[in-house]
Amino acid sequence: MEISAVRWRPMTTRVLSGIQPSGDLHLGNYLGAIRNWARIQHTADAFHPVVDLHAVTVPQAPGELGKATLRMSQMLMAGGLDPEVCTIFVQSHVREHTECAWLLECTVSFGELSRMTQFKDKSNQQEFISAGLFTYPALQAADILLYDADEVPVGDDQRQHIELTRDIADRFNSRYGPTFKPPEAVVPAAGARVMDLQHPTHKMSKSLDSPRGTVDLLDDPADIVRKIKAAVTDSESEVRYDIKAKPGVSNLLSILGAATGRTPEEAAEGYSMYGPLKADTADAVVELLRPIQARFAELEADPAETSRLLKIGADKARAIAAVTLERARTNIGLLTP
Ligand code: TRP
Repeated sequence: MEISAVRWRPMTTRVLSGIQPSGDLHLGNYLGAIRNWARIQHTADAFHPVVDLHAVTVPQAPGELGKATLRMSQMLMAGGLDPEVCTIFVQSHVREHTECAWLLECTVSFGELSRMTQFKDKSNQQEFISAGLFTYPALQAADILLYDADEVPVGDDQRQHIELTRDIADRFNSRYGPTFKPPEAVVPAAGARVMDLQHPTHKMSKSLDSPRGTVDLLDDPADIVRKIKAAVTDSESEVRYDIKAKPGVSNLLSILGAATGRTPEEAAEGYSMYGPLKADTADAVVELLRPIQARFAELEADPAETSRLLKIGADKARAIAAVTLERARTNIGLLTP
């Protein structure tokens, strides 16, 4: 393998995508996003902040947040984000994010923020709705704009925030002169669509409150097998990829295909019963996750090493963010200290 050929490819496109340190990653996160990020890092200049400041928009237990941030960083690294290839860092370690967010809060309107569907959804679930939950998209815009990111690989639910980021960049630029680069949202076509094993018409998600429907990246092999064998199918017995008529079976085929580098239709070939399909899907997922779990165990055993890697990432990130923030400060007309 010619590693040097990979490393020396000119890296033109900068991509950035952040993830909150909220809970462990599951198979849907991995197959739908993280695995794609791990691929992109070899052809683009990739930045991945673990966005701990976004997490504090809702109450967090102080003793837990730091641990969750470290653990998420380790899961990303175990999932294939190589700190020597991409820039993986903790958002709060690069203080430029919060300063830039303030300038952007003053560039976005109350009306625009009020129209964000994620705010409406999340605020409905909170008793205490923090001002930070409302202004969250300005912090997200800072995450992206500080790095002049060209592309933001995100799920559909984040499109609106990326559109708003573009509007904020355009408005800032027209008020104060060229400062920020408006980014593009890219919803990866390659990402597998992984549904809940118990509710196969819903995306796999922790919030569904069906622990048996979610395969965690760090689940024991025995649990993975148990959950996949108990997956909801339907009363027919034909194995065929048909999302509408057979959501449960189609989900297993998507997972099996994604885990073995095939399309769901290709994965369906040769199966006429659910039992063998489930057994093979379970095996494929166990094999897919085995090296990730092994790497995670190594990282978990040596938190100082993860901290060292995160510091390298934060230093790289800060060097870029500081330049952009300085440009913004100058263009908006803040007095130079
Ligand atoms: N808001 C994103 C989410 O809820 C997380 C996020 C924060 C993000 N900053 C970002 C995503 C920057 C992409 C780019 O999933």
